[in-house]
Amino acid sequence: MSHTIDLTAEERDADLDLDQLKQLVGLVDYDANRDPFPVTGWDAIVFVSGNATQSALYYQSVWGMELVAYSGPETGNRDHKSFVLKSGSIRFVINGAVDPDSPLVEHHRKHGDGVVDIALEVPDVDKCIAQAKQAGATVLREPEDVTDEHGTVRIAAIATYGETRHTLVDRSRYHGPYLPGYAAQASTFVKRDGQPKRLFQALDHIVGNVELGKMDEWVTFYNKVMGFVNMAEFIGDDIATDYSALMSKVVANGNHRVKFPLNEPAIAKKKSQIDEYLEFYRGAGAQHLAVATGDILASVDHLRANGVEFLETPDSYYEDPELRARIGEVRVPVEELQKRGILVDRDEDGYLLQIFTKPLGDRPTVFFELIERHGSLGFGKGNFKALFEAIEREQDKRGNL
Ligand SMILES: [Fe+2]
Repeated sequence: MSHTIDLTAEERDADLDLDQLKQLVGLVDYDANRDPFPVTGWDAIVFVSGNATQSALYYQSVWGMELVAYSGPETGNRDHKSFVLKSGSIRFVINGAVDPDSPLVEHHRKHGDGVVDIALEVPDVDKCIAQAKQAGATVLREPEDVTDEHGTVRIAAIATYGETRHTLVDRSRYHGPYLPGYAAQASTFVKRDGQPKRLFQALDHIVGNVELGKMDEWVTFYNKVMGFVNMAEFIGDDIATDYSALMSKVVANGNHRVKFPLNEPAIAKKKSQIDEYLEFYRGAGAQHLAVATGDILASVDHLRANGVEFLETPDSYYEDPELRARIGEVRVPVEELQKRGILVDRDEDGYLLQIFTKPLGDRPTVFFELIERHGSLGFGKGNFKALFEAIEREQDKRGNL
């Protein structure tokens, strides 16, 4: 039985429509009434940064995001600064310590810049927490109402891999810019002429790297605790290179807005990229965020001009007759993809275009992917080998292979 999905407030604000979202992020209809842990979509991705003031400017000037809210000493938060940025329907929150005794200092010392909270919008926080407790999850914050002059949010949090959490937010009774305690704040950054309104419209998926042997445990966590479904399965052989390999499985919430591929390292001759992440992040954590764009060629051109460095794709990737045969017709000539290093993959439902950045911070941990879907609900399985070989060339340059 098919159920119509409503747009979230963020999607309406971003002028997205349902057809676009089905294309952009593979949104599907489903029956939320039968879901023990209904999730509407992403609420916010919360980052810890060593310098939130500068990171927030980076996301505005380089990634075209818009500052919408702020909390910090000026608003009564003496512990840290917190910048809320939007691009289309997705919200990033960048937190950095002000007080040297802030818990963020120790978090950053250990993990470096990274994602501390993958916050999800849910219609019923209490129902989710009851389900989470019954399934044995760790509740980090009991459900509570938080109120200011803009209304009330109901909020709670559960633990996931590493020191990452899922805050659960019901903001249906709230009309402020983000959460109580935050003040609306506009960008002082002025976009150059010719820059598009935004370089990405939504968030497609976040990959979690977990320790060797832990992938299935976390797949089970998302199945049993959060009612997520398994989307696709990759096995070691598919994504092994000569030196390193990984295992990956993908879980998604009912409407597929929220998709979590989960990686673990696989035994190989040398240290895998997942091992490198686990070493430098000091444990499990979010590896990459895939942002969805309707025009990956234009986005990549602007991002490159803004200084973003992408992984290089060898010319042999594009000249490979097997690849040409596998991908068939795509919306632009392959030469246009080759010029930009954009990868292409096809499955029975359609195709997707994707490209990966180099790590965004100082440690070889978090990076971004840009993805433009055309029917395919996959994650670029066919590109994994080509991609990992490119990643390993970078890893080798850092002396970590
Ligand atoms: Fe990805």
